[in-house]
Amino acid sequence: MKPIKVGLLGIGTVGSGTFNVLKRNQEEIMRRAGRAIQIAMVADLNTERARELTKGECEVVADANLVVSHPDIDIVIELIGGYGIAKDLVMKAIANGKHVVTANKALLATHGTEIFQAAQAKGVMVAFEASVAGGVPIIKALREGLTANRIEWIAGIINGTTNFILSEMRDKGLDFDVVLKEAQRLGYAEADPTFDIEGIDAAHKATIMSAIAFGIPVQFDKAYVEGITKLQASDIRYAEQLGYRIKLLGISKRTPKGIELRVHPTLIPAKRLIANVEGAMNAVVVQGDAVGPTLYYGKGAGSEPTASAVIADLVDITRLATADPEHRVPHLAFQPDAMTDIPILPMSEVTTSYYLRMRVADQPGVLADVTRILADSTISIDAMLQKEPSEGEQQTDIIILTHQTQEKNVIAAIGKIEALSTVAGQVTKIRLEHLN
Ligand code: NDP
Ligand code: HSE
Repeated sequence: MKPIKVGLLGIGTVGSGTFNVLKRNQEEIMRRAGRAIQIAMVADLNTERARELTKGECEVVADANLVVSHPDIDIVIELIGGYGIAKDLVMKAIANGKHVVTANKALLATHGTEIFQAAQAKGVMVAFEASVAGGVPIIKALREGLTANRIEWIAGIINGTTNFILSEMRDKGLDFDVVLKEAQRLGYAEADPTFDIEGIDAAHKATIMSAIAFGIPVQFDKAYVEGITKLQASDIRYAEQLGYRIKLLGISKRTPKGIELRVHPTLIPAKRLIANVEGAMNAVVVQGDAVGPTLYYGKGAGSEPTASAVIADLVDITRLATADPEHRVPHLAFQPDAMTDIPILPMSEVTTSYYLRMRVADQPGVLADVTRILADSTISIDAMLQKEPSEGEQQTDIIILTHQTQEKNVIAAIGKIEALSTVAGQVTKIRLEHLN
């Protein structure tokens, strides 16, 4: 059988990894796919670098439009990133009847509905294993391996850059900016690293997982997004003293009222496996009603780990190329006409536990005032830590862990606590998940 011909758009970090792994493992991959997979064309703005990387083994062009419209190309791999040109190219490839593989979570989380509809209408696949958790096959697990289950919740460390930053800051006491630069050097960070540190990239991934897990459309605009830029070293320390680790978690949870979809720094009990995921590693816990909790762990970013997922999609499409489009695994796991519109809940309706840190005057009655406000707001206290004031200081930190309550209760209580004359500045609030 003649090789399946692939056009690669963008030969940067992930593109070069894809080219190299495909070449290195070509025989093994062919034995699995049942057919040779050949990158026949590469498009990149930097044609000189692209030619160096591909060593004359395929045609290199600067204009990606030439690839998506080329009659010999069966599958287009989009590894440019972003929602601009990448969207145009993906839509053109689909219109031209090409299957698409992409690692572009930003594109799918924002324009996924339009893209999947176009692909469905044209009978082509859009495969995106690399878009969530890099080399960890979480899309396949959710869409196929766990298909018997009613998924209850998903919680994941799904941004390697921020996990790397948090780990290095905690273990080596390095500064935020220094570690971010290192993450960029290692190829983990997005082109615009604010996507990583502000939680946007993790929210793109949580959005994609929520669609597959619950059979709802991708709705990034409804996700709650909070990054790690406001985290203080003291909170990481206090959390440790209380037996917790702080991780940037992407959470999607089914509740009777709707779906929670949120990304924020989260305290997790230190004894949980996921609390011990360090560096650029990713991990996702999925709770299914039949299987219980399952954990998926591996490299969430980087050239070859991500290439591993891109090539898995290439093999899947190669195997499926001749299958009837109506009977393939649906893009979002659920049949397109069986999607539901369960609402995504606003953050005020979310229920979770909280870590609260406040700076208070070291005088009698302060703690009683704070706990009274919490009790009046029906917020129950789980644990408390009061630091001794440093020599000569009149103020000290109080840290309170709460039991589960609604976000709106906590926000109201914080307003009242901040209004106390004995409380200095703002109360720091970090959400806490037991994940049990
Ligand atoms: P890079 O920036 O390393 O690579 C992108 C490549 O695309 C560059 O070579 C760039 O060229 C080229 N390019 C830009 N515009 C065009 C264009 N109009 N036509 C042709 N080529 C173009 O990005 P990554 O490889 O890191 O990321 C690619 C995608 O994979 C993104 O969607 C990213 O979110 C996703 N991803 C990345 C992971 C990672 O670990 N890096 C992990 C998982 C997903 P030039 O450099 O000259 O601008
Ligand atoms: N910037 C992303 C991360 C790349 O750090 O996880 C993988 O999607």
